[in-house]
Amino acid sequence: MATDPVSPGAEAALESIRDGIAKGRFPAHVFNDRQIFDIERQRVFSKAWCFLAHESEIPDRGDYVTRYIADNNLIVARAESGDIHASLNMCRHRGNMMCKSEMGNASHFRCSYHGWVYKNSGELVGVPYMKEGYEGRIDKRDWGLVKVRTQTYAGLVFGTIDPDAPPLEEYLGDFRFYLDLYLKQGSSGSEVHGPPDHWVTDTDWKIAAENFAGDGYHTPVAHQFGFNLGYFASSGSTHSQGWAASIPGKGHGIGLGHTPGFPPFAGFPEELADEMRRSLSPEQVEVFSQTRTAVGTVFPNLSFLMQPFSIVPGEAGVRFVTMRLYHPIGPGRTEMYSWCLVPKDASEQYKREAYRAYTLAFAQAGTFEQDDLENWARVTRSAGSTMARDIEFPYVMGMDSVRDPDFPGPGHVVTPYVNDSNFRNLWSRWSDYMTGQV
Ligand SMILES: [Fe+2]
Repeated sequence: MATDPVSPGAEAALESIRDGIAKGRFPAHVFNDRQIFDIERQRVFSKAWCFLAHESEIPDRGDYVTRYIADNNLIVARAESGDIHASLNMCRHRGNMMCKSEMGNASHFRCSYHGWVYKNSGELVGVPYMKEGYEGRIDKRDWGLVKVRTQTYAGLVFGTIDPDAPPLEEYLGDFRFYLDLYLKQGSSGSEVHGPPDHWVTDTDWKIAAENFAGDGYHTPVAHQFGFNLGYFASSGSTHSQGWAASIPGKGHGIGLGHTPGFPPFAGFPEELADEMRRSLSPEQVEVFSQTRTAVGTVFPNLSFLMQPFSIVPGEAGVRFVTMRLYHPIGPGRTEMYSWCLVPKDASEQYKREAYRAYTLAFAQAGTFEQDDLENWARVTRSAGSTMARDIEFPYVMGMDSVRDPDFPGPGHVVTPYVNDSNFRNLWSRWSDYMTGQV
């Protein structure tokens, strides 16, 4: 692992940020700061489990996608054996990028510079002029593509650069209870519907990660039109109701919006709701049946949102799931990936409708997406200004909230849904990584 050149002054500043979160304060500049970004690459993204792909994106042998962990481009491929491998997309000979497309199917990759050939699982199998140039000098077994450790949960493929990272199961912890609301909508699980929408935006990844960790506060304001036009089944007056659930010490958090009287599982076809009642645990069914909107972030940069959205304003909403990855490409700059997830067992008609609802709300040109980005880009710009260096934000909402004793789900669960509890947990975990505690 490369050295970690953080100056003593920067270390002290990070410790001070860590102390501030416990008091409900977080500085503005972290949302657009070159030094913070450089340390994040070294200490957060080189240590955490980072989302790479959904298994259903690469269902057949040879299927691959290229994805990133921080600035490292990876080939994520299903090998001949059926296993999934992630390898650094960098030829071991002189470093050329092996695979230039974002998705496809190939059993092997051949470098376009000097012609070294690798299996899609990373083994070096072909070296031009091997006999004349390298015989007895290199062993092909030592010069495969650099491998990245991968593990999966309910179809999600994660990778980590850190050989000492704990198992994914431990990393996700009790957040799996809530992830199942997106990933186990039926006994066969979920699949992506089409390739991800994919674009670059002048937003810091942390602004998006925080928003999707359960920012119900912004919804009636930033997405006001959604209420006014009837796209959205809540109303301003009941919107704050529900729960904020976070997993202490892990950073993951979810907001669960609840509208009194809202029918359980509304927006799902009845047969799918029945299957969820059978396949999820009784506690998960109890949580799900009270949830209108579920919006959550897996630390650091993977998020999900599920809610009903009316394709025709005023008509009954269709429940959709978006899964989103905020790939950090610079301070205040993010490459966004957004997928539509659908239950594998659902009818083609429901999948199409859910995709339409997703596209209208949260794809690249989605109306909710546009509302958010308009605000996030301006937050990012102001966070990078000189005066913002000394400005802190309040994260004090629900500081003294105690756990809701009746809520059946795990973690620190407080009510109402509009609450800073999840964000304190998120930034506390971020600070653990940034100060080298992890
Ligand atoms: Fe939003």
